[in-house]
Amino acid sequence: MGVLSTQTRKRIVAALALALMLGAAMLPLRGAHAQDTELGPVFLLSLGGKLYDNAWTILDINPPGGRNPALEDAVSVASRDTWRCVTCHGWDYSGTTLGGTEFPGLATLMDADPEEIKQTLLDPSHPFPADQLPELAIELVSLFVTTGQYERSVFLDDAGEALGNPEFGRDVFEGACISCHQLDGRTFLYGEPGDRPSLGWITRNRPEQALHKIINGVPAAEMLSLRFMAEEQIADLMAYLQTLDPAEQ
Ligand code: HEC
Ligand code: HEC
Repeated sequence: MGVLSTQTRKRIVAALALALMLGAAMLPLRGAHAQDTELGPVFLLSLGGKLYDNAWTILDINPPGGRNPALEDAVSVASRDTWRCVTCHGWDYSGTTLGGTEFPGLATLMDADPEEIKQTLLDPSHPFPADQLPELAIELVSLFVTTGQYERSVFLDDAGEALGNPEFGRDVFEGACISCHQLDGRTFLYGEPGDRPSLGWITRNRPEQALHKIINGVPAAEMLSLRFMAEEQIADLMAYLQTLDPAEQ
């Protein structure tokens, strides 16, 4: 989020040129033509965010069979999910502790050089098989790490309560969300294993996950990306969503 440097803009244009060449490999870009070159940071960083969430789903390819050896002991994580960036690095990019192992946060890499991230990902010692993804996917997820992460403290307090004004957030909800998720926010929602199908429950209990998905969209689902909105508006929306469905603790 925030203003993009000239260097980042150049990276985005380069990623886009590659995207148009690879077209068919990236489902959301299928059918892109040269005249679509106005595709910019909102689309590409959101796509990077969705790749961070689940690259395999968005590319419609299978992750390696079995468990990621780095998460062998993290029994609560399904095998398929051991191959997602978010599982190790977290929904707010602050890292995770799973199966007794601490995985590093990425928040300090905002403004780093995307090329460095790409090199980390391609290094065989990093526990993610980047060589099995198209180069464009690696470019976009690297760009996301350096330019697309949201800053948690802008949206949430330490307890995970949204910092916005729910009255303003209600307008966004009524204008943009009701048509799919319905007035009670309980339709068209599955979430992650263990989640309850309720926007109120998810935004209270998994606020970082909800924020990442609201800002970037959801891999292979008809969910909006609100990256274009002002951060305060997204904080307002989160505050309203946290008031929904209060009976669901
Ligand atoms: C199974 C867990 C796991 C998965 C999945 C994973 N990583 Fe990592 N990541 C690590 C570990 C462990 C390190 C630190 C050691 C290393 O660099 O190999 C790390 C390091 C990094 C670093 C360098 C951090 C620093 O401070 O320099 C970046 C950037 C990174 N990962 C990004 C990603 C991205 C993007 C993805 C998805 C494409 C991903 N990782 C998937 C475990 C994981
Ligand atoms: C065109 C239909 C559509 C619209 C409009 C829409 N969504 Fe979604 N949304 C979806 C679908 C489909 C999913 C994926 C379901 C899933 O994986 O849980 C989803 C998932 C989500 C999730 C992720 C839940 C989770 O943690 O996995 C959140 C949060 C969310 N939507 C909030 C919103 C908000 C807030 C708005 C309004 C700004 C909105 N959605 C508008 C269709 C829509």
